[in-house]
Amino acid sequence: MLFQKKEKISLPEIIDIHSHVLPGIDDGSRHHDMTMHMLEIAVSEGITTIVATPHHMPGKGYTPPDKIREMVTQLQIEADNADMGIRILPGNELFYREDLLDLLEEGQVMGMNGTDYVLVEFDVMADRPYIRNAMRNILSLGYKPILAHVERYPAILGKDYETIRILRKLGVLIQANAASITGEVGKDTQKHMKKLLKEGLIDLVGTDAHTDRNRAPRMQECIKVLEKWCEPEYVQALVWKNASELLGDEKSI
Ligand SMILES: [Fe+2]
Repeated sequence: MLFQKKEKISLPEIIDIHSHVLPGIDDGSRHHDMTMHMLEIAVSEGITTIVATPHHMPGKGYTPPDKIREMVTQLQIEADNADMGIRILPGNELFYREDLLDLLEEGQVMGMNGTDYVLVEFDVMADRPYIRNAMRNILSLGYKPILAHVERYPAILGKDYETIRILRKLGVLIQANAASITGEVGKDTQKHMKKLLKEGLIDLVGTDAHTDRNRAPRMQECIKVLEKWCEPEYVQALVWKNASELLGDEKSI
């Protein structure tokens, strides 16, 4: 069979589902100027929506939902005043520990754009049963977890990704970082990303941007790699459509 060039589907929108763009509340953006520069970079990368997901983690940051909403509203006003054409939505990156369940029940943490979807991270040494039980616990409360940067947990990258398959069956969405797909964090990680993507085991790609320098909100290089590895419809789902649906956008296509 002759080589067939994959038909390209354009990306009218790019949603960055994971970002530490809000200034001074976690280990992300240090100050207001850096935040504005991060937004400029995001716009130059074609990103049309950023979900601000500050850490909710002992020692790294703890900001109440009302404060996150207030900061996002203020940042949106500034972005609009500067005619940036970018939307910023509130979220949280929740570090899993037992008392997180109480906080979820009490509504003391921020879902993605106020929905039942919650971005959840673990200690990098968390084992398979721990991650599975944690996700079951979160689901049992009626929340829909998104596993942040799946590539960071060695325990679930083994055994032909059995745990990742189980998590997806349970209803967990799987997020990967753009820099892991481009190879910036190492070839081994990139190999895992390629396999996971080839098997359709990733649902969302985000930047997990922390600064305007080495961890900036960049997506274009990643999209180039995705276009080499994946069908156009899947690329579209990864960087836009799946995120759009979970954020409650009216219509994705
Ligand atoms: Fe993060």
